[in-house]
Amino acid sequence: MNETLIAEKTFSEELEQIFVTEDQVPEEYKLPGEINQRTYLSGGEMLEWTGDVHQVYSPVCFRTPDSLQRKLIGTYPVCTEKEAMEALDAAVAAYDNGRGKWPTMSVADRISSVENFTKKMIQQKDIIVKLIMWEIGKSHADSVKEFDRTVEYIYATIDALKDVDRQSSRFEIEQGIVAQIRRSPLGVVLCMGPFNYPLNETFTTLIPAIIMGNTLLFKPPKHGTLLHYPLLQAFKDCFPKGVVNTIYGRGHAIVPALMQSGKINVLTLIGSSKVANELKKLHPKINRLRAILGLDAKNAAIITANADIKLAAQETVLGSLSFNGQRCTALKIIFVHKSIADEFLNQLTAEVAKLKYGMPWEKGVALTPLPEPHKPAYLKECIDDAIQNGASVINENGGTSVETFFYPAIVYPVNNKMKLYREEQFGPIIPVLPFESLEEPIEYLIESTHGQQVSIFSNDSGEVADTIDPLVNLVSRVNINCQCQRGPDVFPFTGRKDSAEGTLSVVDALRSFSIRSLVAAKLNENNKQLINEIVNNEHSNFLSTKFIF
Ligand code: G3H
Repeated sequence: MNETLIAEKTFSEELEQIFVTEDQVPEEYKLPGEINQRTYLSGGEMLEWTGDVHQVYSPVCFRTPDSLQRKLIGTYPVCTEKEAMEALDAAVAAYDNGRGKWPTMSVADRISSVENFTKKMIQQKDIIVKLIMWEIGKSHADSVKEFDRTVEYIYATIDALKDVDRQSSRFEIEQGIVAQIRRSPLGVVLCMGPFNYPLNETFTTLIPAIIMGNTLLFKPPKHGTLLHYPLLQAFKDCFPKGVVNTIYGRGHAIVPALMQSGKINVLTLIGSSKVANELKKLHPKINRLRAILGLDAKNAAIITANADIKLAAQETVLGSLSFNGQRCTALKIIFVHKSIADEFLNQLTAEVAKLKYGMPWEKGVALTPLPEPHKPAYLKECIDDAIQNGASVINENGGTSVETFFYPAIVYPVNNKMKLYREEQFGPIIPVLPFESLEEPIEYLIESTHGQQVSIFSNDSGEVADTIDPLVNLVSRVNINCQCQRGPDVFPFTGRKDSAEGTLSVVDALRSFSIRSLVAAKLNENNKQLINEIVNNEHSNFLSTKFIF
């Protein structure tokens, strides 16, 4: 056996050691037991499920005498098209063509329902955080952050809606016409979230959709389903019957019929552009469907000859390896100027080597096991393909994997023949390409099917200025000397091409899930009196000058 093989074997053995036996898990991070969900919320009832269930295996494996085994943490219902259609009927009935209790309720009352829900959600923090950690392998620290960020997002949404409502609590008079203009709901929303931010990203669409008066069909992500279970009772208690309905089951088995029914008014999905395309086409009246989508991305970093190399290496690691590279905003391809490529790669390698790997409950852990069962094999395929086409893995142990864990690989030099050039790896691989002229990364972005964000690293103001102008028209956010990211959540989050449709942010999401409606009348004595009577007697929730404090 040659030395490299011995070293690889040793590292694989070392990696195996990150997995422990079940009794070595610290008590405070353990789940209370298996979570076997046998109910789901539909039509205001927690309905019993006695059919098939999906077994949820954690990406965390336990050492057993013979092997490493993924931990079974629970089960959830695999419902069928029948239950999905019943949930749809419940959402349609609750909306009642805009006449339902929820869509006609005052904004102040809707806000207080969401506040009530949030209080109950906070009571479930401990179990939800643990389930995020166990279901998708996110570090405990990041799982806590995801929960807290979601609660902050809800409160920010409430504040933003109060602002919107205050601005609408007045009449406008133009050309002899008096009008009150407000935002009103769109109808039934089908909401599907992603596995990487199963709580946060789902709720950045679900909460604005509900608070604007829509009714909802909510399908939790395949990995990251159980963590929503502790919230079902709160949804039931805080919103009128049929406003929030959950659907469980295989997406391909239950979602097409929902779309074909023509009764879905809004499709909101954080996931793949392929799925979004297919679903939209199933709607029989496509003009009636609004889509709010967060889709694939292949964000590039462009590191010029004038970059602070240390900073670029540190931000590249953060951008490409936070949560093991499983972020839609992750840096997924790195262009580095030829003149600094060697130095950049040295520093990048050193930064990657500093990352702590291990189990999600360990303090300071950065790299953890991956939840998608086929991901390690796919990542290996990407690396093999790159090697066949002339690249190497340049960091020691890069690409070594044991069961669900995959150690990050820096792959260099990447070229346009490789999968890593185009495919969204969504995992811990950092593909690096050398370039001579800035035209090369710009051409890449022009040809790319994605258009979410880009990071430019340079301390030359002229160079940065020259690249900003073309780049802002190719992507939706240009980050200077830092990684790509969604936050702060009040900033608009969107993308071009196949990366998004519609815009999300605390304020934009309220607009995305609503449409402006107005009540208008000729300003004559008769109408003045009529409107005053309605407003003074508080007869309408829409035509109203009530001010929310
Ligand atoms: O997966 C995409 C997330 O929205 C990324 O959010 O950039 O704040 O990690 P983040």
